[in-house]
Amino acid sequence: MAIIIDGKRVSSEIKEKLKDEVERLNKEGKQVGLSVILVGDDSASKVYVSRKNKTCKSLGINSYEYVLPEDTKEQDLLELIDKLNEDDKVDGILVQLPLPKHIDEKKVLSRVYPSKDVDCFHPENVGKIVRGDGKILPCTPAGIITLLKEYNISIQGKECVVIGRSNIVGKPVSLLLLNENGTVTICHSKTKDLMDLTRKADILIVAVGKPNIITGDYIKKGAVVIDVGVNRLDNGKLCGDVNYEDVSKKASFITPVPGGVGPMTIAMLMKNVISLAKRRRLQ
Ligand code: GUN
Repeated sequence: MAIIIDGKRVSSEIKEKLKDEVERLNKEGKQVGLSVILVGDDSASKVYVSRKNKTCKSLGINSYEYVLPEDTKEQDLLELIDKLNEDDKVDGILVQLPLPKHIDEKKVLSRVYPSKDVDCFHPENVGKIVRGDGKILPCTPAGIITLLKEYNISIQGKECVVIGRSNIVGKPVSLLLLNENGTVTICHSKTKDLMDLTRKADILIVAVGKPNIITGDYIKKGAVVIDVGVNRLDNGKLCGDVNYEDVSKKASFITPVPGGVGPMTIAMLMKNVISLAKRRRLQ
């Protein structure tokens, strides 16, 4: 049976350390602030945003929440970002994705100052990741790398297979694995013979968004399996993209859903906002 990678525990430990750091800064009269913008009423996004705000509060970080209606004009969103870019209390700006279809996501993400880009979605920051010298790393990919390191799973020279090529997870996690000297294959919906590739993986990262599609047949014995999927079933339960029951019999390590990658994303977000605050003005 696979060892369960406990993202909840690791994220709690990280948050404890971050809390101490914020406390120290606050004692010196220094405040840290994160602005979170949510446009529309995507129910999963609402849950994520409220979790982000709650975590900020529990760490002593000021959070400024902007909930805008679904029919918000792109121009109004851009103007809000302009205002937050100039607001000295705001160290990080997070625009929750997905945005409504009438809003140009790329334009919006490019409007956030790179120095306040807590998600690492601005092209300048993405470019730094490509070059391998990014100081702020995208939250979910950074959470995955942190988990692997925490469990002493080395990446160097390993066959790393990533399923999914989104700008939020698939592409950036592939770059981070490459920066750690992994041999990386990126698979997606047009990939021929997916199983052929996944069966070679020492480390398999699954970020597809389809419940339970990766069964034991896709896994090499002893592989490390990281499940990024969060899918809500008709019965209200959450499940990943990986069939946990089946795959955990073959894998050496596996992340559960919930309690694996998810909590790490928020911990990395908190880490990023503190780093941005320190870099921009606190020291
Ligand atoms: N939507 C899903 N994941 C993310 C994330 O990491 N950041 C933002 N801004 N939106 C998301």
